[in-house]
Amino acid sequence: MAALPDTLRDTRDRTLRLVDGLDHETLHEPLAPIMSPLVWDLGHIAAYEDLWCVHRLAGEPLLREDLAAVYDAFETPRAARAEVELLDRDGAGEYLERVRSRTLSVLADRGPSDLHELVLRHELQHTETMRQALFLGGRSGGFPSAMPSFAGEPDFLEIPAGAFLMGAGDDGFAYDNERPQHEVEVPSFRITRTPITNATFLSFVEGGGYVRREWWSDEGWSWKEEYDITHPLAWTGADEHPVQHVSWFEADAFARSLGARLPTEVEWERAATWNHGTALDGVGLVWEWTSTEFDGYPGFSAYPYPEYSQVFFRRSHRVLRGGSWAASPRVATRTFRNWDLPQRRQIFSGLRLVKETS
Ligand code: AVJ
Ligand code: FE
Repeated sequence: MAALPDTLRDTRDRTLRLVDGLDHETLHEPLAPIMSPLVWDLGHIAAYEDLWCVHRLAGEPLLREDLAAVYDAFETPRAARAEVELLDRDGAGEYLERVRSRTLSVLADRGPSDLHELVLRHELQHTETMRQALFLGGRSGGFPSAMPSFAGEPDFLEIPAGAFLMGAGDDGFAYDNERPQHEVEVPSFRITRTPITNATFLSFVEGGGYVRREWWSDEGWSWKEEYDITHPLAWTGADEHPVQHVSWFEADAFARSLGARLPTEVEWERAATWNHGTALDGVGLVWEWTSTEFDGYPGFSAYPYPEYSQVFFRRSHRVLRGGSWAASPRVATRTFRNWDLPQRRQIFSGLRLVKETS
């Protein structure tokens, strides 16, 4: 294990590499109505680190109390971030640096804490959000250089009925929504070994996928009609690469067109951890939609703050699992739970299918 100061530095380098070389407009303008200006993410990363690794951990006053509200995700929601005055690139860079030196001195005094891991993963998650914004703003960043190919129609793998421990155990860091770990009984099912590819999704599009009412949920159909959706938001990469930028509504309709369905979140984790996690291929390339609405596990308790996950429970967000090429493996573990609204397509999101055992 690398020492924490090195890991913090590597994570920061990753963030700064992403914005390095971007022009002023790309950094300061909102790249899409649902996204923040990238300079907001930079200031927010600094404010979050100061809050948790300095203020909460050591009881020191915030470095910039005056910026707390602007860089708080709830006090300044995405829609407002284009309107308020933000630090520019240099100002945000300096804020990041000054907070980091406070973090390192608290760390030297008090040693490592779970809050350091929270803050690291937070920054890693924001670099993915920033890549989504760059993609939506047409600044690319929407596809990795190396992505495995999956040829042919997907084959189904049978997962036997059985019980497993779902969620994160008590050791080490995990997000509050991954706990408590609990036993779940799962009937047998079949799941595609690989993520659905562009080629397979294209057959759906060409086979009337966006015209056949019977394949869509009521809500999905209204969304598709209202926004005149006729294909995924983008076709990235080659035919045999995993499809990305599909909404939950599209993923759900696609599955039904093949007499299949999306995995439940329980099925996804069962399959992804069965046989020591070797059964599925391509986990971690694109986020995978599940049919499950985001909620707490039985006995959930918020840690360290309810706005990370609890406030999103039962508000119709669907759970995504696995991770994407833009996510760090440090974040995207097999128990990690991502979530978004069913109409969202800025995510690097695809799917795999489930069928009942025959
Ligand atoms: C877990 C990706 C849904 O981006 O809203 C970032 C992560 N939480 N800052 C989000 C997060 C606070 C979160 N997701
Ligand atoms: Fe955040």
